Amino acid sequence: MGFSFEVDRTAEGGGRRGRLRLPHGVVETPVFMPVGTAASVKAVPQSLLEEVGAGGKGAQIILANTYHLYLRPGHELVRRMGGVHRFMSWERPMLTDSGGFQVFSLSKLRKISPEGVEFRSHLDGSKHFFSPEHSMDVQIALGADVAMVFDECVETPATWERTRESMGLTHAWAQRSKDHFELHKDRVPWFSERQEQTQSLFGIVQGGMYADLREESAKRLVEMDLPGYAIGGLAVGEPREVTREMIARTLEHLPKDKPRYVMGVGYPDEIEEYARMGVDMMDCVLPTRSGRHGLLFTSEGRLNIKKKEYAEDQGPIDATCGCMVCRRYTRAYLRHLFASGEPLSAVLNSVHNIAFYLDTMERVRGDLGTGRS
Ligand code: GUN
Repeated sequence: MGFSFEVDRTAEGGGRRGRLRLPHGVVETPVFMPVGTAASVKAVPQSLLEEVGAGGKGAQIILANTYHLYLRPGHELVRRMGGVHRFMSWERPMLTDSGGFQVFSLSKLRKISPEGVEFRSHLDGSKHFFSPEHSMDVQIALGADVAMVFDECVETPATWERTRESMGLTHAWAQRSKDHFELHKDRVPWFSERQEQTQSLFGIVQGGMYADLREESAKRLVEMDLPGYAIGGLAVGEPREVTREMIARTLEHLPKDKPRYVMGVGYPDEIEEYARMGVDMMDCVLPTRSGRHGLLFTSEGRLNIKKKEYAEDQGPIDATCGCMVCRRYTRAYLRHLFASGEPLSAVLNSVHNIAFYLDTMERVRGDLGTGRS
């Protein structure tokens, strides 16, 4: 309970305009989800997130990470604080990634067995063990609207044999994630307050850069009859044409009546392209991470605010952008903030970039909904 997905219209290219109903609200799709790794979208207060971009509607859904919140402050503490929504004062929808990807990309000395992964914390080197069951327990304690199965994201490049073996582990872990989740999903912190609505669990398709494995993985996960499916293992260093090809080849095998989520992508033109191919959800650290590094996205391409040429530039970041940063501040001032290491630089750059991503998706939703594409 607490989940439904409707498609209003599908365009010729496969893009869909739809709606995801979750316990904490309705999400218009296709949607971009800003990343709030440690229950914070870095440098952006929740009040701004609620207002920035998409005609003032703000972010509809954000993502947090199981791996980080388990290590600090601990999922049991977050549960005692009423769950991640209440803890961070964000009452809109949220999704948590399962920890699989982060264990593989951040932690040291991983030991993988069919049972799970032993790893050392990137914070203090302490030893931990994650299994599909444990990831579910942590995600249920955090209580996001959507949880993800525990998966293994294979390294690139990887041989077909190595990728298939890893994918097999991901499938076994997906089944164990589902079995454990079904038994315990009524333990989300807000279960009784929200008329016994609960979390939903999405599957993750793997299969590396091999179309036949992507097909096999999609089919195996679809058999598990989960409410939504993600495509993982992409944007890990492969050329963009390969990312696009893997997405296209996977979408063919995913049900049309369920949401489809590509994890960890991409630049603004990529998220637009994938949304027009039929991807309903995406997340990426790029708008916030790039913002902190002075890289701004505009309708004319990328702009590096560090450059001397902006020192006395009285214009906004992007003359066509209506965000609160472009309405108020000049490039000259933003360059000065960056050059001076002022914390406000990270805030304003991140706010603009998030607005740019949310506006991009708002425009795509408009096109898909009205038949302009
Ligand atoms: N984020 C980006 N890629 C992935 C992936 O393959 N798996 C998970 N769990 N998260 C991701």
